[in-house]
Amino acid sequence: MRRIKLPVHIAFIMDGNGRWAKRRFRPRAFGHRAGVQNMTKICTHAFKLGVRIVTVYALSTENLSRPKEELDELFDLIRTYFGKKRDKLLEMQVKINVLGDISVLPEDVQRDILEVTEETAVFSEGLFNICINYGARQEIVRAVNAAVSYGRFVDEASFKDLLSTSGVPDPDLIIRTGGEVRLSNFLLYQAAYSELYFSKKMWPEFSKRDLERAVENYSARDRRYGNVKES
Ligand code: FPP
Repeated sequence: MRRIKLPVHIAFIMDGNGRWAKRRFRPRAFGHRAGVQNMTKICTHAFKLGVRIVTVYALSTENLSRPKEELDELFDLIRTYFGKKRDKLLEMQVKINVLGDISVLPEDVQRDILEVTEETAVFSEGLFNICINYGARQEIVRAVNAAVSYGRFVDEASFKDLLSTSGVPDPDLIIRTGGEVRLSNFLLYQAAYSELYFSKKMWPEFSKRDLERAVENYSARDRRYGNVKES
């Protein structure tokens, strides 16, 4: 990839697993399995390119209304990812953080997640945020209630500290695959000045080259944050 301005933080909405599987006459779970494999490949590549923070939308709060059979599959994938296949995660040599309310997960999976976050806390070069049972509106409401319970007014900086991304810079680039053009309750507060990139590719087929294209596209953008361009 030619020399470019890299985003510090990329966030992914990994959409299209179900359609990718359906086109292959396979069950949705097949698409989610391929999605997890691709998540490891693409996030590893992002860190290799020099991106410091990667955030993925693995399971939204709204996804929890999916049929039990599909949810069981997704929970199983999460169990394997933080359990049996933990080595793959540790190989990334980045700090792992899970955002969202994981109390919906079976207790053994919650324990595995805690272990992984503790084990990887020593890595300071990169940060991998995995959003599970995450919803941005819920996150904002929780933060407002926390401020109310402390009985204090907030400003932008102190409000940010009440969000689950406290201390983490906002995403510079949000990439959504699967052809839909929306944020679907993902990082709504943090995305105020993120650059958005939409790919028609389904998540399991989004390649390293596609990631590089998205980063090149980002690099050419003029981020003015509401200001005027300097001459
Ligand atoms: C959207 O595709 C994807 C999801 C709801 C789940 C994506 C999750 C993963 C790829 C990884 C799971 C995470 C871990 C940590 C193991 P969709 O099912 O909505 O696809 P569709 O829009 O084509 O139906």
